[in-house]
Amino acid sequence: MLTPSDAPTSALHHNDREDIWELSKLPRKARPKATAGHYRILEHRSLADRYMALTLDAPAIAQATQPGQFLMLTAARRGQKTPALPRPMAIYSTDIKSGTIEVLYGVVGSGTKVLQSFEQSEEMFVVGPLGRSFEIPEGTRRVLLIGRGIGTCSLTTVAQANSECGIETIAVTSAREPSAVIGADYYRTHGAHVYEVTDQAGNSAPEALFATLTRDLDNNPPELILTCGSDRLTRLSEDLAQRWRARVQVSVEAHMACGLGYCHGCASGARSEGDESPLICNDGPVFSWEPVPAGVSAS
Ligand SMILES: Cc1cc2nc3c(=O)[nH]c(=O)nc-3n(C[C@H](O)[C@H](O)[C@H](O)COP(=O)(O)OP(=O)(O)OC[C@H]3O[C@@H](n4cnc5c(N)ncnc54)[C@H](O)[C@@H]3O)c2cc1C
Ligand code: FES
Repeated sequence: MLTPSDAPTSALHHNDREDIWELSKLPRKARPKATAGHYRILEHRSLADRYMALTLDAPAIAQATQPGQFLMLTAARRGQKTPALPRPMAIYSTDIKSGTIEVLYGVVGSGTKVLQSFEQSEEMFVVGPLGRSFEIPEGTRRVLLIGRGIGTCSLTTVAQANSECGIETIAVTSAREPSAVIGADYYRTHGAHVYEVTDQAGNSAPEALFATLTRDLDNNPPELILTCGSDRLTRLSEDLAQRWRARVQVSVEAHMACGLGYCHGCASGARSEGDESPLICNDGPVFSWEPVPAGVSAS
C-alpha cells in the first residue's frame, strides 16, 4: 500500500482557474442488453457492521456487465406490492466463471431495510446491467480511481477490467474511519496500488490528497481519472486533471424510480441540445467531466 500520511500539504488553486467544468455525455457506444429476472441469493452477509454484501447467481449479468454499470434491485418479494420502486445499486464485482455478481450496500432507509431481510437461497427480482459504463480510451496506460465510502462501489469493476488488459490502476479509497473503507482488498487482488485514507487519520481531505498524489504521480501521471460523484472528489479530480492534462469521468448518483429512461425523473443537469438534460440512468451514470468549450455558456 502506498502511504500518504507523511505527504506535504498544498493548497488547491481553485481561484487561479479560468475555465469552468461541467458534466457532458460520453460518446454513445453499444451497450450490453439488460435482463430482468428472479436471481437466487448465494450469500448475504454484513460487512464491518456497516454495509451488506449480496452475492447473486446471475450468469447473464456477470457475463454482460461493463465497468461502472448498475442494477435495479426490487425489495418487494414475489406477490408483495411494496416497496414499489426498485433501488439502484452499483455492480461491485462480477465473476464470469462462477456466474456470480456482488453488490455492497448501506442500509439507509425503507428500501434497503427490506433488502437486508432477504436470506440466502431466496430469490430477488433484478434488472441489469444498466446505464453507460466508464470508457477507457485505447492506449491508456494508467488510470486513477478516486472514491469515497459506498460510492467506491461504482469504481471497483474498473480495476477488475484493467487487470485483465494490462492497464495499471491506482486507487484512492476514502472514508470517515477505517471500518468504513470500501474495496481496498478487492483493489489489491486486482493488482492496484491502493491509498486508504480516512478522516480519522487526517489524510482524506482534498488538499492532502492533492499533495500526496502529485508527489507520487507527477513523474508518471495517469491519463484518466475516474471518480464517483462526490463534489469534493470531482473538484480534486479536476485539479489533478488540469495539472496532468488527464481526462475525468464521473459516476453520478440520483434518486431513481425506473432506472430505464421511462420516468424522466433523473435529469443530470448536463447541457443538452434538446429540451431535456441527459438522464442519469440512461445517458449515465457515467459522464465526462470537462471544461465548458470556449464560446458556450455554462449550464
Ligand atoms: C447508479 C447508482 C448506484 C448506486 N450504487 C449504490 C451502491 O453500490 N451501494 C449503496 O449502498 N448505494 C448505492 N446507491 C444509492 C442507493 O440506491 C440508495 O442508497 C438507496 O436507493 C436508498 O434506498 P432506501 O429506500 O433504503 O432509502 P430512502 O428511504 O430512499 O432514502 C434514505 C436516505 O438516503 C438518501 N438517498 C436515497 N437514494 C439516494 C441517492 N441515490 N443518492 C443520494 N442519497 C440518496 C435519501 O435522501 C434519504 O436521506 C446507488 C445509487 C445510484 C443512482
Ligand atoms: S430513473 Fe426513470 S428515467 Fe431515470
